Amino acid sequence: MTPFSMDDLMFRPGLMSGERILITGGGTGLGKVMAEACLMLGATVYICGRRGGVVEASARELMDAHGGRCVGLACDIRVPEAIEAMLDQIWADGGALTGLVNNAAGNFISRTEDLSPRAFDAIANIVFRGTFFVTQGCGKRWIAEGQKASVVSILTTWIWNGGPFTVPSAMSKAAVATMSQSLAVEWGSHGIRFNNIAPGPFPTEGMSARLNPGGEGQERSNAYGDMSANPMGRVGDMRELANLAVYLLHPLSAYVNGQTIAIDGAAWQATGGNFSRLRAWGDAEWKAARDSIQRTNEKDRAQRTV
Ligand code: HXC
Ligand code: NAP
Repeated sequence: MTPFSMDDLMFRPGLMSGERILITGGGTGLGKVMAEACLMLGATVYICGRRGGVVEASARELMDAHGGRCVGLACDIRVPEAIEAMLDQIWADGGALTGLVNNAAGNFISRTEDLSPRAFDAIANIVFRGTFFVTQGCGKRWIAEGQKASVVSILTTWIWNGGPFTVPSAMSKAAVATMSQSLAVEWGSHGIRFNNIAPGPFPTEGMSARLNPGGEGQERSNAYGDMSANPMGRVGDMRELANLAVYLLHPLSAYVNGQTIAIDGAAWQATGGNFSRLRAWGDAEWKAARDSIQRTNEKDRAQRTV
């Protein structure tokens, strides 16, 4: 991905100076572009993931391109003790965070009847459980210190109309939406606010390999749908997502609380924005998809350091 320049951002240089932002899963894909925008605008940025080499290389790449301070941390958010250790390390490294982006996730397409308990847990433990424990860990610290903060969670439009063939993800994202709405009210008086972004298709390696297996790089027509059916006729542009995230993280959006903003070109209103068209697949297509997804999972697992 080409590095952003200031022309890609709608904000003035230094806008995020003094902000301290943690982006889970920030070493790749959407998390990495949100990290890049925050860094370019002067924030100190922390990114975490299970593949220590990936987060460290991304942090280095972003600092080489833009300067500033981006710290890569190896952490598995499925493990509450590991989250606590990471947050202790961040707080010891310059004080409280001012923003959190719940972006880390796992997902793959599968017929629901084919999911084993371990397959369900593989997704729910990251998205449903892990997101809660990262949020709670930050919230406890913010409340104790009287620190205001903004939490942005990356969801999907399936929270509104369901996610056929991605049921553990859709269920978990819907639960995170409920967490955000609940805490927007419960912690609003502490100045801690919660908003969600529900992206449509933004091609990333992690997403394409698991949601469009075998068709990586086919941005216009894939398992997710035919992009000509999207009212905007295209997939998302990373700059559009990054600018929205910066807006929600910045203190000047402080009266925006408890909201979910879709960024999908109105795809879900037009087409459902989910994998309903995979109803046409038979056993052969599902076997090929599963084999391809599992090859990606194995490759990624081999790079994990935690
Ligand atoms: C059925 C599958 C499967 C598949 C894995 N499993 N892939 N079952 N169909 N395609 C089963 C395995 O057989 C195993 O169960 C269980 O799931 C756990 O698999 P592991 O590979 O051991 O899991 P793990 O190493 O924990 O990896 C977690 C993961 C992996 C979620 C499975 O995909 C991952 O790490 N993903 C992180 C990145 C990611 O997913 N990014 C995409 C986000 S995109 P058994 O019982 O056999 O042992 C996104 C976009 C949404 O969310 C919107 C798009 C428009
Ligand atoms: P991605 O590149 O695969 O990003 C997922 C990130 O989460 C990876 O960096 C991964 O790193 C990290 N992660 C997974 N499990 C983790 C764990 N247990 N602990 C810590 N980090 C973990 O995919 P993406 O497309 O950018 O997705 C980012 C977010 O956007 C996700 O929430 C996804 O659901 C959402 N989304 C994406 C799209 C899209 O079109 N791309 C659309 C809608 C929503 P490790 O594997 O190294 O841990």
